Amino acid sequence: MKRINSKVQPILWEHKKLLVLDQRLLPHEKKYLELTSCKDVISAIKEMVVRGAPLIGITAAYGMAVAANEFKKLEADKLINKLKVIGEEIKSSRPTAINLKWAVDLVLNTIFELRDTDSIISAVEKRAKWIHNDDVDRCEKIGEYGASIIPKSANILTICNTGALATGGIGTAFGVILTAHRNNHNVHVYASETRPRQQGARLTTFECFENGIECTLISDTACGYMMQKGNIDLVIAGADRIAANGDTANKIGTYQLAVLAKEHNIPFYIAAPLSTFDLSINSGVEIPIEERDEKEVKEIHGKHICVKEIKASNPAFDVTSGKYISGIITEKGILKDDLSGSIRKIFNTVALV
Ligand code: MRU
Repeated sequence: MKRINSKVQPILWEHKKLLVLDQRLLPHEKKYLELTSCKDVISAIKEMVVRGAPLIGITAAYGMAVAANEFKKLEADKLINKLKVIGEEIKSSRPTAINLKWAVDLVLNTIFELRDTDSIISAVEKRAKWIHNDDVDRCEKIGEYGASIIPKSANILTICNTGALATGGIGTAFGVILTAHRNNHNVHVYASETRPRQQGARLTTFECFENGIECTLISDTACGYMMQKGNIDLVIAGADRIAANGDTANKIGTYQLAVLAKEHNIPFYIAAPLSTFDLSINSGVEIPIEERDEKEVKEIHGKHICVKEIKASNPAFDVTSGKYISGIITEKGILKDDLSGSIRKIFNTVALV
């Protein structure tokens, strides 16, 4: 199968400079911001200049490279200690996505035995580039496995954005859709708008448009109706963290889609790389859910949509129990049926870095 390139490039590492596409401005403006310090990197992740679990993992890794350069005057042991502290801050910048921890720990494991500053700086940079390229490959394989379960003609409902804007490659759930489309499946996407940050409306429809995929934008509240009408053949979503039993945290609203899909007998798939699994937790109950600023719910384009004094709650993610998931599409194959067992098996058989 030929390699599929995506058109959108959300992160660039050029001549030791970290540039990120400011996703808050999409689809209207394509503007890159240079992140010159670890503080810039942490704030870009928190403010969702960059977003999507695999992409913030990649950003975290390059963020460690930025930090290593920023503190290059320190002696080796002091630099390593500094990077450990910065790594902890990066990990907590968005608490639900496990990819942050995965990427930072990989970087730290690469350097802990090094004893001179220059080798640490170049090893961090090399590891960050590796993490970026590795995600390109993972997405491609997820796309190939996932495309095998897409009917020749399919109406696919998805939520949030899981494409090139959320990963290093073609995406996870969106990568499956894109691969099926490139393999001549007749796919039509229903993009759920994804209140309050509108990743579905702003980013997924943009990626569909850029890739020539037929797409209809619907409000989050229309998803049940569309299923009831028989308009949806399957649902595919991404993940921010998957527990050992298959329970999956993803964008707020995913859980209700999964429950509705079960009610209407519609397959509900998650697509995610193994870097999104957290085997240190047994179930979704243990996944920390990021609570974001209530402004995101109360305001649209800086204007209140409710009485100013009203309290709002803004959980950014929810957890879908494994019992609602028809399968998890990974770069090593599709996990089905006994999710706990198949997750354990796949992690026992793959060589992890
Ligand atoms: O808040 P976001 O935009 O970072 O949330 C992103 C999602 O929920 C995605 O579905 C998930 O990170 C997987 S991206 C391949």
